Amino acid sequence: MRHFLFGGWDVTELAERFGTPLYVLSEEGVRARCRAVRESFMDRWEHSLAVYAGKAFLPLAMCRIIASEGLGLDVVSGGELHTAKSAGFPMERVFFHGNSKTEEELRYAIDAGVGRIVVDGTSELDTLEETARKAGKRADILFRVTPGVDAHTHKYILTGHTGSKFGFPLLGNSLRTAVRRAMDSDCLSLRGFHFHIGSQIFENTSHVMAVEIVVKTIAEFSRDLGFTTMELNMGGGYGVEFDPEGKTPSIASFTDAMMETLASGCAAEGIPLPRVIIEPGRWIVSEAGITLYTVQTVKTIDGMVTYAGVDGGMTDNPRPALYGAKYWAVAAGKMDREPTETVTVAGKCCESGDVLIEGLKVPPLERGDLLAVLNTGAYTFSMASNYNRIPRPAALLVSPGRADVIAERQTYDDVLRWDRIPEHLR
Ligand code: LLP
Repeated sequence: MRHFLFGGWDVTELAERFGTPLYVLSEEGVRARCRAVRESFMDRWEHSLAVYAGKAFLPLAMCRIIASEGLGLDVVSGGELHTAKSAGFPMERVFFHGNSKTEEELRYAIDAGVGRIVVDGTSELDTLEETARKAGKRADILFRVTPGVDAHTHKYILTGHTGSKFGFPLLGNSLRTAVRRAMDSDCLSLRGFHFHIGSQIFENTSHVMAVEIVVKTIAEFSRDLGFTTMELNMGGGYGVEFDPEGKTPSIASFTDAMMETLASGCAAEGIPLPRVIIEPGRWIVSEAGITLYTVQTVKTIDGMVTYAGVDGGMTDNPRPALYGAKYWAVAAGKMDREPTETVTVAGKCCESGDVLIEGLKVPPLERGDLLAVLNTGAYTFSMASNYNRIPRPAALLVSPGRADVIAERQTYDDVLRWDRIPEHLR
């Protein structure tokens, strides 16, 4: 019987050795995408940098891979920053984001010496200035701006529209006032601006529009305030195709168009081309990962639907329930059988909405069959929960001849670890 191969492995062997559910990440898959980003972006534009958005997937081992590929890292919380630091990630290549950073997180970032703190608004600027002054350090910062473009994606992952919780709005004077303040500050050094318009975007038009808008803004600041923008961070959001028939757009299909717009805009305004940064997360890791599940139950409701119940679900991948995200899967041990059945892959959580895939074509399934859900490298492990007190799966890093656990499978006792019984209930 032909089996599904991934990352140089017969995945049925991985499931036998490590159990299911199991996240499997191909090291070469991640490295190949890092290389593609370097070749199509970093090698083409002087002093440019691609920064991996760690929120997509950030165990310590991932930090090590990203560091060795020469990319930077976008972190968005004290926890992600701590992960990067613990992995020995070069702090000067770290960008610290977040719309509601605590003073403690800002202090951590300053003490760790992160490359850039991306300031999200005026009140954060107050806190940061005070924190940097107390620490006796100078912080290099960018201002995140909201360009006011509506990208075509799910509204939960849209971020660059007017009214977004992220960034300084371009309407009104708050950004201009903040630029003036930063120019006068003795402990902050404003290098430029950042925007991120949303996630899982397939066409470059919204990104290009955002560049056009931001170029106008930086030209105004140059003219009116004498402020020179040294850096422009254009965020991430580059979409990944979940349908095996479709094709994931290349990074260059976004960055070439953005760079062209930036270069011509800067030339027309008579301002220097800033150093550019991008922040792909999903694009780097999504297709490099799969999740293996074992079918536990098969239930046919006559004339309606057949459910294949698996040993995981929304706890290890909340994306279908949260965003209506689509996935594709194969019966990994039955690759040469005809896909004659249509099933709905149901998760094991006590929620009708815990359905991983609808309308999946598979060969007849039975208890014990292995399903490999493809393209699950991004925003699954990192968004996992212990709902229904389900332990989180292990994550494996594989390459031909090597399979290493990079995150241990939780045990039932791990799930109990933080519970305490107060005295009067003992
Ligand atoms: N930069 C910033 C400032 C961001 O906020 C994000 C994503 C990225 C970069 C990376 O975006 P990507 O290239 O991965 O699209 N949990 C959602 C995605 C939320 C993304 C939030 N920010 C999902 O599962 O689809």
